[in-house]
Formats: sequence, C-alpha cells, structure tokens
Amino acid sequence: MNAVQTNKLIDQIVRFPKMAHQPGSIGYVEKIIIGQLLMISQPKLIIETGTFHGQTTRFLNEFISLNKLGGCQIATFDLPNVINKLTENSSYFKNNTEIELVKGWLPESLKNYLNENQKPVDFAIVDALHTYSAVLKELKTIHPWLKDGGYIFCHDYRENDPNYEGVVYAVDTFAKKFHYDILPLNNSNLNAEEVVWGSALLRKPLKKRQQRLKVIFYQLQVVYSLMANTIKRYIPL
Ligand SMILES: C[S@@+](CC[C@H](N)C(=O)[O-])C[C@H]1O[C@@H](n2cnc3c(N)ncnc32)[C@H](O)[C@@H]1O
Repeated sequence: MNAVQTNKLIDQIVRFPKMAHQPGSIGYVEKIIIGQLLMISQPKLIIETGTFHGQTTRFLNEFISLNKLGGCQIATFDLPNVINKLTENSSYFKNNTEIELVKGWLPESLKNYLNENQKPVDFAIVDALHTYSAVLKELKTIHPWLKDGGYIFCHDYRENDPNYEGVVYAVDTFAKKFHYDILPLNNSNLNAEEVVWGSALLRKPLKKRQQRLKVIFYQLQVVYSLMANTIKRYIPL
C-alpha cells in the first residue's frame, strides 16, 4: 500500500477539520485526542466549560459533521461579555444552531442548564477558571449527569507547573472521591523552561453489571479470534 492509499484509508476511518490555534485554547495534539474520544463516545450532548474564542467548540462541531456523528448538541459556557463578543464577531455560531452558547457565571450557569435540559452528558471538557475550587465544582456539577463510562477532558492538568497546582489537585481529589479512572496526558518531567501542555482524562466508572458484560464481551472476542485463527489454519479457503 503506498502513501496515497494509506492516507485515503485513514481518511475513511476518521476525518479531521482544519484546526486553528491560539494561546489559551486547547492545542492540536489535544484536539486529535478529543477527536478519538468523540469517535468512541458517539455523543449526543457535549459540555464545554470555557468557550473563549470558540475554537474548540468549532472544532467539535466540524469534527462531528465531517465524521457524520450527527444529532449532537454542544453546550459551551462562558461569561456574558465573552459570548457577546463572539457572536458579534462571527456568524458561524449564529448559523450553527446545534451549538448553544450559554452566558453566565460557572458553575451556576452549568447547574441551571443541566437541570432545565434533563439530558445525560456523553462527553465534557473542563477548561474555564483554573483554580482548585472552580475545577472541583464544575466536575461535581457534571458528575451526576455524565453517562457511566463517559469521559471528561480536563485541560491544563500540568503536574510540573506550579501555576496549575489547583487544577491537578482538584482533578485528583475528584477522581479519588468518585472512583473515576484517571489518565494524565503528556505526564512528562519536562523542565520549567520548556513550553509544555498537559491534560487529564477522567472516565466515570461503569456499574458492576456493565463491567461484567464488558469482560464477557472481551472474553468472547478472544474466543472468537482463537476459533477464527484455528479454522484459517486447518481449513484452507
Ligand atoms: C482557557 S479559556 C477557554 C478556552 C477554550 N476552551 C478553547 O479551547 O478555546 C477560559 C475561559 O473561561 C472563562 N471563564 C473563566 N471563569 C469563568 C466563570 N466563572 N464563569 C464562566 N466563564 C469563565 C473565561 O472567560 C475564558 O474565556
């Protein structure tokens, strides 16, 4: 298979929109990881705390449309002046009604939205105020609404950066209390002079019955592949 054929094959599996980036936004590598998580989650409702210039919001929407994950709502939260500026400067958000720009102070704006909407959350991005108390409150607000096995992408979880100690402590505290799996991304010991990024991925635990079903599913897959390989070896087609 040559490079063009390989690219075509990858393009059939997952498509990425053009990605824009600016300081303060989620970076390219992180967007690629988020894209993979969207493919796994097949979301119907995504929450993003901290809209800023809407670059990640736009990425989410374009990724969903390119990969035909359709029927997904995106609710993104920021302060009124930030949202007003965004809608004044860009017609994209007016034309794409599947994106809801929610104005107000977090976490109250998020609490109100979830209570009014009464829909489960499939995937969340936490990226507003980077203090211990704010991150912990947002995570606790999302928790009861997040589907079992659902993911929360916590931006700026930077273990070696003293400016983000609060984010790390809040995410760790939350994961421990609510028994979430936690995967720090880019958890390297880079020295302070280098430009680093860091995030953490949280996954809500599955119920015992769901866990058992998952184990059975994997066991069946192993049995199936053993059988298929044995048949291939002894019965030439
Ligand atoms: C780091 S930026 C978000 C970046 C965005 N997720 C992206 O990837 O482009 C953080 C945003 O959180 C907003 N924010 C901070 N504290 C907030 C609060 N208490 N309520 C609502 N929004 C807040 C800020 O106005 C800012 O736009």
